[in-house]
Amino acid sequence: MSPATFIDALQNELQTTQYGQRPPELYDPIRYIMNLGGKRLRPLMTLMGAYLFTDDWQKAVRPALAVEVFHNFTLMHDDIMDKAPLRRGQPTVHEKWNHNIAILSGDVMLVNAYELLLDIDTDKLKKVLARFNRTAAEVCEGQQFDMNFETRWDVTETEYIDMIRLKTSVLLGFALELGGLIAGADETTTDHLREGGINIGIGFQLKDDLLDVYGDPVKFGKQVGGDIIANKKTFLLIEALEQATGPIRDELIGWLNRTTFDKAEKVQAVTSIYDQLGIRQVTEARINEYFARGFANFEQIDADTSRKSLLMEYVRQLAERES
Ligand code: IPE
Ligand code: IPE
Ligand code: MG
Ligand code: MG
Ligand code: MG
Repeated sequence: MSPATFIDALQNELQTTQYGQRPPELYDPIRYIMNLGGKRLRPLMTLMGAYLFTDDWQKAVRPALAVEVFHNFTLMHDDIMDKAPLRRGQPTVHEKWNHNIAILSGDVMLVNAYELLLDIDTDKLKKVLARFNRTAAEVCEGQQFDMNFETRWDVTETEYIDMIRLKTSVLLGFALELGGLIAGADETTTDHLREGGINIGIGFQLKDDLLDVYGDPVKFGKQVGGDIIANKKTFLLIEALEQATGPIRDELIGWLNRTTFDKAEKVQAVTSIYDQLGIRQVTEARINEYFARGFANFEQIDADTSRKSLLMEYVRQLAERES
C-alpha cells in the first residue's frame, strides 16, 4: 500500500462525482477548482486514518472527498477575502468568473460536502456530523480572526497560533479523526488522531506562511508575497515586529502603514527585513517543533506499525514541502 493507491481511488471517485448541472455558471467553477489538483492532503489523511484500523478503507473514499470539497469551498471564499489572483498556478475563481459566482459556487460546495458525508453508516453519521459542524464553524472563526488581525499591530504569537489552529489545523485534525471514526476506532484513539492532526496542521500553516515569502512561485502556485501585501499577521511578521529595533523597526512599520505602494517593492523590502532578522530560521524551528508534537501524538496510537509508518512518512514529507 502506498499514498498513490489512495490518490488513485480519490481520483476515480472524483471523476464520477456530480456537483450539479444548471446553471453552468454555478457548477463550472466547482469542476474547475476541484480539477486544479492540489496535494489532496486532507482526504489522504482520512484514508490513511481509516487504513490504520481496517482493510476496508474504500468505504472512507466518499467521506474523504467531502473533506476535500469542503477545503476547496474554503479556498474559493478565502481567495476573494485575500484578493488572491492565483490558486494552484491558475487564475482564482473570482478572477476567472466574478465575485458573486465565487460566493455562490462556494456555498453549493458546502452542500455537496454534506451530500458526500451521507455515505457514512447511520450508526456513525450523527457523531461525524456533529464533529464536522464544529470544525466548519471553527474554520469560519479562524478566518474572521485572520481578517481582524490585518488591521491590528499588537497580535501576539499566542493569538496567532490560536487563529491558525482554527482556520487550518482543526480541518486536518478532523480529516484524520474521520478516518478513525469510519474504521470504528475507539474514542481515545480518535482523540490522538485529531490532536496529532491539529499539531501537524499548525506546522503546516507555519510552512504555508514561510512559502508565501520564500517559496518558488511556480512550485507554490500562489502569488508569492501576497501575505506581505495584505499586512497579514503571519508568524514571520509577528516575529519580526517582536525582534526589530531601531531603524529596521521604523522601516518595517513604515511599510505596514503605507496605503499606496508598489507591491513588488514592498514585498522585496519586507523580505529583506526578514532576512536581516533571521526570521526564516526561527520559523523553520517552530515548524519542526509542531510536527514533532504531532508525531508524539501519533506514537500514542495503537495500530499496525507498517500502516502507522505509511502515515508518518507522508507527514514527514509535508514538513519539507515546496508546494
Ligand atoms: C491551502 O491548503 C490552504 C492552507 C490551509 C494553507 P493546501 O496547501 O493543502 O492547498 P492544496 O489543496 O494542496 O492546493
Ligand atoms: C487559508 O489560509 C485557510 C483557509 C482557506 C481556511 P491562507 O489564506 O494562508 O491560505 P492560502 O495561502 O490562500 O492557500
Ligand atoms: Mg486567508
Ligand atoms: Mg489565502
Ligand atoms: Mg497562505
